[in-house]
Amino acid sequence: MTNITFPNDFTWGCATASYQIEGAWNEDGKGPSIWDTFSHTPGRVKNGDTGDVACDHYHRWAEDIKLMTSLNLQAYRFSISWPRILPQGRGQVNPAGLDFYSRLVDGLLEAGITPFVTLYHWDLPQALQDEGGWANRATAEAFVEYANVVSRHLGDRVKHWITHNEPWVVAFLGNQVGIHAPGLQDWPTALAASHHLLLSHGWAVPVLRENSPGAEVGITLNTTVAMPATGSAVDYHAARDVDGYMNRWFMDPLYGRRYPADMVAAYRERGYLPNGLSFIRDGDLEDITAQTDFLGINYYTRTVADESTGSDDPSTRRIPPADTEVTDFDWEVYPDGMFEILCRVHFDYRPPKIYITENGASYSDGPDENGRVHDERRTSFLRRHFAAAHRAIEAGVPLKGYFVWSLMDNFEWAEGYSQRFGIVWIDYPTGQRIPKDSALWYKEVIAANGF
Ligand code: FCB
Repeated sequence: MTNITFPNDFTWGCATASYQIEGAWNEDGKGPSIWDTFSHTPGRVKNGDTGDVACDHYHRWAEDIKLMTSLNLQAYRFSISWPRILPQGRGQVNPAGLDFYSRLVDGLLEAGITPFVTLYHWDLPQALQDEGGWANRATAEAFVEYANVVSRHLGDRVKHWITHNEPWVVAFLGNQVGIHAPGLQDWPTALAASHHLLLSHGWAVPVLRENSPGAEVGITLNTTVAMPATGSAVDYHAARDVDGYMNRWFMDPLYGRRYPADMVAAYRERGYLPNGLSFIRDGDLEDITAQTDFLGINYYTRTVADESTGSDDPSTRRIPPADTEVTDFDWEVYPDGMFEILCRVHFDYRPPKIYITENGASYSDGPDENGRVHDERRTSFLRRHFAAAHRAIEAGVPLKGYFVWSLMDNFEWAEGYSQRFGIVWIDYPTGQRIPKDSALWYKEVIAANGF
């Protein structure tokens, strides 16, 4: 294989999220989140797993920074737990919550690691869900209050802000498919939620800029590459529908094109918009287009669509092609999709900069008798995706950094601890951290800025 070298200013990091790693779910004044409620409800999460303890990062953060240093990480993307800061979602601030993240940020900066902070990675304060959650416009207002409190405290040191992580997952997996908190199955609720998520992003951007001078502000979307299973018109429309549902429904309004007309028409026809678009008020669509500095892309796999696999519900339309290589999560390994989504986003929407804010794979390989974790499949997965990202840079895509999901094995939402995405192994009973072979390989990639 030929040598691949990334641009000099390229940033290499790892990503995590608060609920997936912190534990300490009810310590130091933290309020409950919808994921506390959801995981404590029998039958919701595989094996009854919860994030009560998770990786115990809340207590082991200093050790985790040392771990990052030992792996040469240049940046660390983490999220803030909203109910640690505002236990009721708004109003009373919990100083202990702010202190925790302040110490973390200081520790990272001392170690020379750039913090990328995500404000919302799914742990909504339960108090706000009790008032309707994201389907309630008031939640968008509360988000701005939260963004203001956090950025006033950390904005002098944090210079990279991500408002939301994957609003599609929040709106649709949480409120329509129902496999994530709060576990609802209602299209109109999900569609209203999607709008309020985007609106809260647009409203928070100027607040973050005001409180964090010179900062880069963006949003992270989960993307899929949607492809028709055959050349038929029916399959083409199925793929177009998946693309509209997952990609265009979010990117179009963010980049000033309003909600895609084909999807609005389809949702009306299917009865998902009984009150039309009444949740959109005058000025909302302008507010959503607030100028950002970058787009964060999370890319994992593609979707091959075919009419036979679903009803009119595109969430059911993913066919893993026969004999395809898959991860232990049964997600197809499709590195070309990294190149394709980066080019598509760049040429269609032209964000000034792009970061891959997540990419990685679930493989269950654990320690051998010598305590080493030989996860060659993960190294191979990452190598191929890095190479595809590099091809995109050569094609002109302004890709500025790459965050591997995840720094460590963690609570994988509805799958609990059964899926391991980490480059560092977590021994859950003891909390021991063991860098896997992929982590040691990644360390060398960072040192060489390529491979
Ligand atoms: C993404 C999430 C992240 C993790 C990975 C596997 O959708 O943002 O928290 O669960 O998938």
